Amino acid sequence: MSNYENKVAFISGANRGIGFETAKKLGELGMTVVLGARDVTKGKAAASELVSNGINAEAIYYDANDSASANNVYVYLDKHYGKLDILVNNAGVNHEQLMGKNNSSSVSQDALQNTFQTNLFAVIELTQKLLPLISKVPEGRIVNLSSILASLTLHSMPNSPIDPAKAFAYNASKTA
Ligand SMILES: NC(=O)c1ccc[n+]([C@@H]2O[C@H](COP(=O)([O-])OP(=O)(O)OC[C@H]3O[C@@H](n4cnc5c(N)ncnc54)[C@H](OP(=O)(O)O)[C@@H]3O)[C@@H](O)[C@H]2O)c1
Repeated sequence: MSNYENKVAFISGANRGIGFETAKKLGELGMTVVLGARDVTKGKAAASELVSNGINAEAIYYDANDSASANNVYVYLDKHYGKLDILVNNAGVNHEQLMGKNNSSSVSQDALQNTFQTNLFAVIELTQKLLPLISKVPEGRIVNLSSILASLTLHSMPNSPIDPAKAFAYNASKTA
């Protein structure tokens, strides 16, 4: 048995993209991966794909805009595993055009509030909910997905490759 086979990881927003690939890689190491998805049908389809590749995977409902779902994730993981080895806070949104005009002078309140809710407030809420389970293991890990676009240093450099990418809500939420 590898060191990974009794470990459990929860990855938010794991039905596609980086979250799905992260679940796949952790699963290939032998871990049990629990995929969080706001659309459970898509989550279950993603988990089925992993299971068909020999990975121990399942999907449960998690929506960063639904506070109760963070508590439900805790209840589910506690009941079925009694601990959590790795939390990957992957779910994220960018409602703005990366190269567009959504700078701090023009970004809408809706974009700001939704982006910060998903990319920051929900991350803190879910982490706080799951900390008691992570605290039960000796080497628990919490992984937060930031971005190069979070870098205040790079944004302040005129010749930086990210200089034109002024998606204010996304960038600021990832800095936070
Ligand atoms: N792609 C990049 O180049 C890049 C670079 C740096 C950092 N990142 C960060 O890496 C993470 C993943 O990026 P990605 O490119 O894989 O993004 P993506 O393909 O757009 O996937 C985002 C995932 O987050 C989920 N999600 C969005 N809002 C949610 C909510 N309210 N509740 C639960 N899940 C939600 C999506 O679910 P649905 O399928 O239901 O929409 C999807 O599963 C993000 O945090 C992103 O900011 C990405």
